[in-house]
Amino acid sequence: MNSYLVTGGAGFIGSHVVDALVARGDSVRVVDDLSTGKRENIARHTNVELIEEDLSNPGVAMRAVTGVSHVIHIAAIPSVPRSVEQPVKTHRANVEGTLLLLLAARDAKIKRLVFASSSSVYGDAPALPKHEEMSPNPLSPYALQKLIGEEYMRLFYRLYGLDTVALRFFNVFGPRQDPSSNYSGVISIFTAALSEGRVPIIHGDGQQTRDFTYVSDVADGVLAATCAQNVAGKVFNLGRGDRMSLTRLFEVLRELVGSKIEPRYGELRKGDVRDSQADISRARQFLGFNPSITVEEGLRRTVQWYLASIKRSTSS
Ligand code: NAD
Ligand code: UD1
Repeated sequence: MNSYLVTGGAGFIGSHVVDALVARGDSVRVVDDLSTGKRENIARHTNVELIEEDLSNPGVAMRAVTGVSHVIHIAAIPSVPRSVEQPVKTHRANVEGTLLLLLAARDAKIKRLVFASSSSVYGDAPALPKHEEMSPNPLSPYALQKLIGEEYMRLFYRLYGLDTVALRFFNVFGPRQDPSSNYSGVISIFTAALSEGRVPIIHGDGQQTRDFTYVSDVADGVLAATCAQNVAGKVFNLGRGDRMSLTRLFEVLRELVGSKIEPRYGELRKGDVRDSQADISRARQFLGFNPSITVEEGLRRTVQWYLASIKRSTSS
């Protein structure tokens, strides 16, 4: 039987991947320092082991990979603006943590390591949709750190024969995305603000676009990547293949929440990408990836979840 280590498994995307593995009957271990993740995200899985440690500390990666057959590396500090403000701290988590994990996976003879990369590696290449053959052009330390992670994946495959696969997630959203910091994902920030009667800020003119992708589709793509054939050393886009402007996103969310609040427009964020949209033909071909949740349906489920969680926290 296969057994899985999910790094960052107590976070937003990681916990959905854990859910999907547990539902499939797989044995799962999580390593997470709970810096942005939460124990409660995986608490209902009483058979999932949690190692509460920072992966970039010596010895942690080796302890975490011992006894598992597959690794899904999702842990990272995921925010573009945070990487602009804290390049060294984010480099340590996103690059050093990844290298230590790769070394441990090589030594433990792991069957496959799947890495959560990011569409941000494309930067501002003007052509849309973005496909994997395009030259990367990172605009932030975060994007560069993800690109270095991808290159390490390829290198470990070539140099040591470690089977690695990199997945470029496009903007992922859904239940459990934590809205509590300025570094959080925009959908969680807007939904929480609108639900609590606060005014959301749109950075720039609101015409920037993103390929918003519902988290269960991404989790399905990750699971497919753990067992697909002929994918070692390759990189794949995981998005919906569509895009929506921030202004339009705001309007849809406002209607779903039932709010009349107007947004405030603020300064464009440093390191921000203008437009993002995935070409997912490679993932369809090799992973059988087939995202099934429309943005509108995903937003409806997400708003429902936020409203229910606000209700839960005010009644407790
Ligand atoms: P998240 O912050 O919810 O998850 C990251 C998890 O990693 C958290 O549980 C955190 O506690 C853990 N972590 C961070 N540093 C760690 C360390 N040094 N050691 C151990 N654990 C550590 O964020 P998310 O949105 O779920 O992102 C998950 C992954 O997907 C990240 O690698 C991110 O870069 C990537 N990604 C996310 C998106 C998105 O839109 N959310 C898009 C592209 C890529
Ligand atoms: C997001 C992810 C990143 C991932 C990338 C892949 C997070 C926190 N970031 O980065 O991990 O690699 O997608 O595509 O999950 N914005 C506002 N107001 C706000 C917050 C954001 O206008 O209050 C704008 C931003 O300026 C940006 C857009 O919304 O133009 C999206 O921002 P954000 O959700 O932080 O995502 P990305 O930077 O695209």
